[in-house]
Amino acid sequence: MSQAEIGLIGLGTMGAMLALNIAEKGFPIAVWNRTVATTRAFHENAGDLAARITPTETLQALVAAIKPPRAIILMVPAGPVVDDEIAALTPLLSPGDMIIDAGNANFHDTDRRAADAAKGGPRFLGIGVSGGEEGARHGPSIMGGGERADWDRVAHILEAISAKYEGTPCATYMGPGGAGHFVKAVHNGIEYADMQMIAEVYGVMRDGMGLSAAEIAEVFQGWNAGPLQSYLIEISGEVAAATDPIGGGPILDMILDRAGQKGTGRWTAIEAQHLAAPITVIEAAVAARNISARLPERQAGQALFGAAPVGLGTGALSIDTLEQALICGKILCYAQGFAMISAAAAAFDWPLPLPDIARVWREGCIIRSAMLNDMATALTDHPDRNLMLAPAFADRLMATHVALRNAVAAAAVHGLPMPALSAGLAYFDMMRTARSTANLIQGQRDFFGAHGFDRLDGADSHHGPWGSHG
Ligand code: 6PG
Repeated sequence: MSQAEIGLIGLGTMGAMLALNIAEKGFPIAVWNRTVATTRAFHENAGDLAARITPTETLQALVAAIKPPRAIILMVPAGPVVDDEIAALTPLLSPGDMIIDAGNANFHDTDRRAADAAKGGPRFLGIGVSGGEEGARHGPSIMGGGERADWDRVAHILEAISAKYEGTPCATYMGPGGAGHFVKAVHNGIEYADMQMIAEVYGVMRDGMGLSAAEIAEVFQGWNAGPLQSYLIEISGEVAAATDPIGGGPILDMILDRAGQKGTGRWTAIEAQHLAAPITVIEAAVAARNISARLPERQAGQALFGAAPVGLGTGALSIDTLEQALICGKILCYAQGFAMISAAAAAFDWPLPLPDIARVWREGCIIRSAMLNDMATALTDHPDRNLMLAPAFADRLMATHVALRNAVAAAAVHGLPMPALSAGLAYFDMMRTARSTANLIQGQRDFFGAHGFDRLDGADSHHGPWGSHG
């Protein structure tokens, strides 16, 4: 067996799929998993690809099986396990060898690991890999962070295994340290928001209009042929159309409404506060998952306050209005997400390539959609301009914000929750209000805290005529 070109640790779902993808693209790979039986079973089930896969049963054997300078991918749970694997590998590796964390690491951890690597020890890359099991096997979107030279060493493999958009690999270097995992976290925040907004219009169709899962599936399938074409709309149609293998009815009606979260969306919301980057749609989506998890309280609430009455009726809202509302909310959410990336680029001095970020999201990742190519074009023209101010998207917002307003208003009147879409509407309204109400905030702050304020008719800080009141 010729020596492997790369190694991989962690043969869970994502790791196993990634290893098969790497082997399939012609790169001999050595693999190791903490449980030997898993490694053996993986190799036994690898079919024709087994010839390019070297299963190993010790870390020493893994290292020995890889051609120096080595590169070893970690596909293990984010957090201390990554540090444990780095510690176990380091004494076995030689100068120039590299560890690549391809899990959903918090970018602060990746920054720390990259800084440690810079002091000596193995080289270190942190890459965000998006696309779930299917993406890992047949083409994920890959967002790289670390030293550029280290990325360049393995870029040929990462580009080969990545998704392709019209032949272009969806794998790009984002910047130093944790830049790749940061961009992945923002991807996940947008993912949460996309999913939440789709769930909100699903709620209006189910609880407001009384549509069945099958009818809702047809709506999503129809939308997937239009401006909302995306992986998440596509799979929402699949989920709504699927039959419960046990009861025979729609499986969607049998799924418990308590959302899980591994935490990447939460990290994005936390980081946005540090960056003073308003991502109100993503924050609303994270909060909605937290509220959904409080099922007993919600059950008590319904018993006390009563559920929202069905009977919105199609008169108040049409399916087309919901589609337009979703288009509007999506643009506003992505505008917030890219603005947060811009804020991070400035705060961390990262040369984050916003147009390339939109490009690598066009295929392979969970938020892949038709709109992303236009976003890449808009960001290429003006990387630092808020996406909602780009002519192509300003036009779409002008054409759809009334629908968003009508959808949010009708849902509110009927008690149908739309936290993410209403956050998007509020953001739109704030962003098109040149004279906001923050003057009162400044007056209040100066009244009780003498914090001062600027005047419209002059510069410098002033205080109000309230003396020591308050
Ligand atoms: C992706 C997904 C993936 C996600 C997990 C868990 O890009 O492939 O974002 O990385 O983290 O599916 O997601 P939750 O945070 O919803 O648990």
